[in-house]
Amino acid sequence: NTKIIMLQGAMDLETELLIASLEQPQEYLLGKWRFVEGIYKDKPLVIAATSIGSANAAAATALGIEHFHPAAVINQGTAGGHDPALKAFDIVLGKQSFDASSYRTAKEEQADWQHMELMGAYAYDPQEKTFLPQSVYYAGDQKLLEAAHKAASDYTRGKVVDGCFASSNTWNRQKERIRYLHEQFGSSCEEMEVHSAAQICQQYKIPFLGIRIISNTEFQDEEFQPESAKACQQFVLKVVQNITY
Ligand code: 5AD
Repeated sequence: NTKIIMLQGAMDLETELLIASLEQPQEYLLGKWRFVEGIYKDKPLVIAATSIGSANAAAATALGIEHFHPAAVINQGTAGGHDPALKAFDIVLGKQSFDASSYRTAKEEQADWQHMELMGAYAYDPQEKTFLPQSVYYAGDQKLLEAAHKAASDYTRGKVVDGCFASSNTWNRQKERIRYLHEQFGSSCEEMEVHSAAQICQQYKIPFLGIRIISNTEFQDEEFQPESAKACQQFVLKVVQNITY
């Protein structure tokens, strides 16, 4: 079985354990993005170093899909807590995600970001000559979610919950803003890559899941904890074992 799974991470500290776990690692540079293909416990994997932010994540996702034709894509790494109940080292499985930078405001001068309305994606299908249906939220793949649920019982460093990612090129530290996103849009945490990778995978019809570990949260006064990135990668390697392609 040659079906390869693509595991993505933005920063070196979010991919180095995955890359070090590969047997027969093979390096690729596609455009400006690094990919390492190899085997982990008989499963073919390709680790994609996307770099930070939505544009980088989208470009690396499209290049990786075109070159490796993965059967599934997992975007993993660190995130900041939005749900006040979440603590550092808790893991969020992406039941859904949305672009927290996609909104229009009302015309009135006094209207502010509290009147936000999300607009969804603009994806044109040249074969069908139609716009793909716009949606604010993209759903994580059900089978990948189930594989992640199976790995959850062995995870001892925090809890594992289904949740929602608020993606944008923003690092929010204001509790009021964070609480607003959490309450209005149901975000569990924030990060910068999941939703754009999800959008590209949706266009290619490739199963996708975001898996993020809480590395920092204002509600628990926890600053960024680099060690959490390692714990996330270890968890993702367990998830991969439960995927039955
Ligand atoms: N807000 C935004 N991005 C965060 N990241 C970790 N925590 C947060 C946060 N609170 C991740 C992003 C990006 C890098 C800056 O860290 O996904 O890749």
